[in-house]
Amino acid sequence: MDAVSPKSLSVRIWRGKDDGRFETYEVPARDNQTVLDVVTEVQRRHEPALAYRFACRVGVCGSCAMTVNGVPRWTCRTHVAKVAEAGEITIEPLRNMPRIKDLACDMAGFFDKWQKAGGRFTGTRNRAEPPAAVDPASRKRVAVDAAIECINCAVCYSACDVVSWNEEYLGPAALNRAWTLVNDERHALRRTTLDLAMEQGGCGNCHTQGSCMRHCPVGISPTESIAGLKRMSLLSFLVRDHAAADALAKTEEPA
Ligand code: SF4
Ligand code: SF4
Ligand code: FES
Repeated sequence: MDAVSPKSLSVRIWRGKDDGRFETYEVPARDNQTVLDVVTEVQRRHEPALAYRFACRVGVCGSCAMTVNGVPRWTCRTHVAKVAEAGEITIEPLRNMPRIKDLACDMAGFFDKWQKAGGRFTGTRNRAEPPAAVDPASRKRVAVDAAIECINCAVCYSACDVVSWNEEYLGPAALNRAWTLVNDERHALRRTTLDLAMEQGGCGNCHTQGSCMRHCPVGISPTESIAGLKRMSLLSFLVRDHAAADALAKTEEPA
């Protein structure tokens, strides 16, 4: 059992929708306490109606992301000791999405953009056929592997200032997904995915300053993925030939 510190923690938590306000709670400061532990303590001891999301508590599901002292983070893997300032911590929903209630935001627009970016996999083979063989050491597969472990947490989307001023922008997570598909030899609609990722609101809007990359909790670089899409789309625009775009991808060093 964790030792209980004599000190307490002052926790400001957003309540309500976009027009809500902060409320402050005092909770015991404990050893090895995560931000999600603090939110759970407030919900169990002070505010039973407090709305927030979590599922796995171990950094797999991506559902617990919130803004902590102004920074988007996965709260189940964020220790209070690393982020509290003078015994205080401020917790809000992620930015760039409407606030539904307290710490929960409406993620429908975020996931809709995955579809708009062509993020749905369509196999080249049916279930009766043997699965396509992909060389795990090929440059394309290595590029995919560097971007594939996304947990859909929307931390990058919250960190992206282009998303905040351009609601059409597909954002880092959706475009990172598109990058994995245009490099996936088993995906039958690579041309379509590339076209969708290049459209208005697509990869050309990224300013490549890397806020998404700095905050991604699992170490993915959407910035690098989007840069790859830009290179591929430029060649595609010049030659209008997907085989040539593929050839460019083959010459790229993996991220
Ligand atoms: S690098 Fe691009 S996607 Fe990432 S935060 Fe900046 S503008 Fe957004
Ligand atoms: S790219 Fe990283 S920050 Fe963005 S949704 Fe995926 S895991 Fe989260
Ligand atoms: S609760 Fe699943 S990643 Fe945090």
